[in-house]
Amino acid sequence: MTKAFEIELPDSYSELTETLDAANKILTTAVDDARTLFHTPVVSSYDGKTISSRVMVLREFNLENRKMRFHTDQRATKINEFSSISSATIIGYDPNLKIQIKLQGTVITHHDDEVTKDAWNESTSRSKKCYSVKGGSSKVIDDPASYDIKEFNVEYGYQNFAVLVFTFDTLEFLFLKSTGHRRAIHKWNKDLKSSWLVP
Ligand SMILES: Cc1cc2nc3c(=O)[nH]c(=O)nc-3n(C[C@H](O)[C@H](O)[C@H](O)COP(=O)(O)O)c2cc1C
Repeated sequence: MTKAFEIELPDSYSELTETLDAANKILTTAVDDARTLFHTPVVSSYDGKTISSRVMVLREFNLENRKMRFHTDQRATKINEFSSISSATIIGYDPNLKIQIKLQGTVITHHDDEVTKDAWNESTSRSKKCYSVKGGSSKVIDDPASYDIKEFNVEYGYQNFAVLVFTFDTLEFLFLKSTGHRRAIHKWNKDLKSSWLVP
C-alpha cells in the first residue's frame, strides 16, 4: 500500500476493480484536499472549431451517479460553449500518485436554479467574492488593477454565479510504474464495462 496525503492506494494493480476504486478514492479526496492535483483538474470544451482547456476547482465527485460539480461565472466563455455543445473532457495527473485520470462526458450548465442556490449556500465568502467582479469574464481591459474587488456585497455575486454539472460515461485510469504501466478504461453504457488497454 502507498499512502499519499490521506489516500491509501495499492502499490500495483492486477484487478480492474482496483483501478476504479483508486480513482474513486482520489477524486473523492480531491474535493476537500487541495494537496492532490486532482483538486484542480483541466476541463476542456469544444465550440465546433476549437478546443479550449482551463483549470477548475473540483467541488463535488460522486461515482454512483457519475457526476462532478464545478463553479464558474455565468459570463465566462465556457458557458456559451457548453450550452451549445455539451461534450467535455476532464483530465488530471498527480506526480505524487503517478496516476492520470481522464473522464469524458457531458456538461449541463445551471444559473439561478435549485442547483446554484444549494452550491452558493455552501460556498465561503471568499469564493463568493470572485463573482462580484465587474464587466464579466474574458473582457479585454486596459488596467487590471481597476478590476480588483475592494468593496463588495457578498450576495451581489449570486447573479453571476453558475454551476457546471459534468456526467461522465468513460473513466480512464493510467498508472505509471517502471515495472509495468497499467491503463484501464471503464465505460458505462447501460452497464459498466471495464477493460485493460495497452498503456
Ligand atoms: C488554480 C486555479 C483554479 C481555478 N478555478 C476555477 C474555477 O473553479 N472556476 C472557474 O470558472 N475558473 C477557474 N479558474 C480560472 C480558469 O482556469 C479560466 O482561466 C477561467 O475560468 C476562464 O475560462 P474560460 O474563458 O475558458 O471560460 C482557475 C484557475 C486556476 C489557476
